Amino acid sequence: MKVLLIGSGGREHALAWKISASPLLDKLYCAPGNPGIADHAELVSLNVEDHDAVVAFAKEKTIDLVVIGPEAPLVDGLSDSLRKNGIRVFGPSQGAAQLEGSKGFTKDLCARFNIPTGAYGRFNNAPKAKAYIRQQGAPIVVKADGLAAGKGVVVAMELEDALEAVDACFEGAFGQAGAEVVVEAYLDGEEASFFCLCDGKTAIPFGTAQDHKRVGDGDTGPNTGGMGAYSPAPVMPAEMVERTMKELIEPTMRGMAELGHPFSGILFAGLMITKDGPQLIEYNTRFGDPECQVLMMRLQSDLLELLTASADGKLDEVSPTFSDETALTVVMAAKGYPEAPQKGSVIKGLDEAAKTEDVKIFHAGTALKDGNLVANGGRVLNVTATGSSVSEAQTKVYEAIEKIDWPNGFCRRDIGWRAIIREQEQ
Ligand code: AMP
Ligand code: GLY
Repeated sequence: MKVLLIGSGGREHALAWKISASPLLDKLYCAPGNPGIADHAELVSLNVEDHDAVVAFAKEKTIDLVVIGPEAPLVDGLSDSLRKNGIRVFGPSQGAAQLEGSKGFTKDLCARFNIPTGAYGRFNNAPKAKAYIRQQGAPIVVKADGLAAGKGVVVAMELEDALEAVDACFEGAFGQAGAEVVVEAYLDGEEASFFCLCDGKTAIPFGTAQDHKRVGDGDTGPNTGGMGAYSPAPVMPAEMVERTMKELIEPTMRGMAELGHPFSGILFAGLMITKDGPQLIEYNTRFGDPECQVLMMRLQSDLLELLTASADGKLDEVSPTFSDETALTVVMAAKGYPEAPQKGSVIKGLDEAAKTEDVKIFHAGTALKDGNLVANGGRVLNVTATGSSVSEAQTKVYEAIEKIDWPNGFCRRDIGWRAIIREQEQ
């Protein structure tokens, strides 16, 4: 098969690595990719916002499957443009990607199909949003409706912070994404990321993980795209997965089909495991980043076969298997992330670090400049390892990080802390 992968992050490096291991693969292209992905794919500079250009490339190269990594092209309808031209795609349609593209859409779906989530209101002006917040009281959560690169959410412990967040949204802090605001009840519990592979009809569980969203140790500081993750998540044992399938995923699949937007691709449920069970925080319509990296380390099945089955509506014919080992990844970011990451600093020692037992390093925001590997974004490297426990995987990752010579980078030192406390208690 000839495959075109869209994206340039650590998620796409992990996908490229697994796709390239498939015996079904003849040729992998990636647009735009990164220096790590270049080990597995031919990089092509396509403007993915130009759907005609992507279609033309796919036709010219007789691509058998396009795999779309990030959310922006999904919400922008790239899948539909490709399908209209007879090109097979892994990823949801624009209609189905509303699950990520509009938080209000998802909350309405939850209300209509009885999917457990926090009580909410949707507002297109500040006075009404503020009146609702005053009526509900703090803690409360304020979200920009649209895509805001993970930055459009304020978990307000005080009323004042919630009111300020409403003003920020309507004053344009998130551009068009903040033209509508969703206010929702604060959910208390432990978070988990849950993935399902879907084909419009069938949804099959595709792994659990726990992310670390805050930039600082001990879960402090501003939210980021994710500073590290591990899989599986101990907070999601088999019975919790079963409940989540029944109470959240199945009604979502039914509801989306009923609304005329059957969901295919990867459905990523951000869950809060509360004392009453799983509640939906949000849906994403793509693999998590960095969650994908740990899932791919554990996946034993042929990824390309699974992605093709999803695209063809044949998931009832496959059953993915994962290793029982734990995988853990630590994000190395450029100093200044998430506010203002510094670009251009030189990174050395990766080859040596990658020799650490059971370690794999995925590239995210890297570039090659004058023969050197340099930082070219906020989240730059994902140092990843497998082990028989979270503690063991964590030790290997930090051992590898010690060998990376990058004074301008930083990482959290406590990725996996919740699971490690659990392991120590056992
Ligand atoms: P989101 O972008 O919706 O995943 O929100 C970012 C982060 O904000 C989540 O990972 C949670 O940590 C937190 N969050 C979002 N919604 C809620 C909620 N209703 N209750 C508590 N925390 C939340
Ligand atoms: N790591 C969280 C996300 O990909 O949205």
